[in-house]
Amino acid sequence: MRKVIEIRNLSYSYADGIKALENVNLTVHERERVFVIGPNGAGKSTLFSCILGFLKFEGEIIVSGIPVKKETLKNIRSTVGIVFQDPDDQIFMPSVQDDVLFGARSKFTEEEAQANAREAMQTTGLLGLEKRLAHHLSFGEKKRVSIAGVLAMKPDVILLDEPTSNLDHRHRKHLIDTLMKVDGTLVIATHEMRLVCEMADRVVILNQGKILAQGDPRDILTDKRLLETAYLEPPCECELNKLFSRI
Ligand SMILES: Nc1ncnc2c1ncn2[C@@H]1O[C@H](COP(=O)(O)OP(=O)(O)OP(=O)(O)O)[C@@H](O)[C@H]1O
Ligand SMILES: [Mg+2]
Repeated sequence: MRKVIEIRNLSYSYADGIKALENVNLTVHERERVFVIGPNGAGKSTLFSCILGFLKFEGEIIVSGIPVKKETLKNIRSTVGIVFQDPDDQIFMPSVQDDVLFGARSKFTEEEAQANAREAMQTTGLLGLEKRLAHHLSFGEKKRVSIAGVLAMKPDVILLDEPTSNLDHRHRKHLIDTLMKVDGTLVIATHEMRLVCEMADRVVILNQGKILAQGDPRDILTDKRLLETAYLEPPCECELNKLFSRI
């Protein structure tokens, strides 16, 4: 399988000296659904910011054969889409429609962008809200706007940071159905074990900026000691049943 993301010896410290990532090595293959789990402050969001080149990191990140560096950022950001943890970091156009269209317009013709945006708004349940002011929406609605904007760009790789947080049951289910149909590579950071059981091909545990373990979700999610080391709640029996009946 083709390697889509290759991360070698990645380290990152914030300006105040916080070591958020330390010697992270990770490979993601084409069409894999990789879940990054770990407690608050483990470095999940920082890892995503490094992949997109928002932070000046140490080490090497290669996306579809292209090294992440200043000169390649435009290319990287049309290949990789990110749904931020906080939708307020993502939404900046006034109307829902303009926001969902924004990224697609930079990549496709107007006609294609409109078609992609409509499809993305349909799958995220936003039809009817097109003219609303994005900043006046509820948190869950804003989250769906930011997800739609990324889906409309049809990137090869989508990084989703806590995609289901604040989504109600119906929109959570829609989102999972949509993501399961995405013809691309997904890397998802979450605290929601149920989601991991429902979707993951591979699980990576990040703890205090380091990879503690990675592998088959059936091995990782049944290792109670390992999960406890990273302060993660082991999935319940019904979630594990879902996992074992799926894979
Ligand atoms: N802008 C910043 N300046 C300084 N330190 C930061 C900054 N952003 C994050 N950190 C620190 O870096 C570490 C990793 O944070 P990060 O947001 O990547 O964790 P996370 O795994 O995404 O956590 P959560 O589950 O709460 O979203 C934490 O110790 C955090 O306090
Ligand atoms: Mg985070």
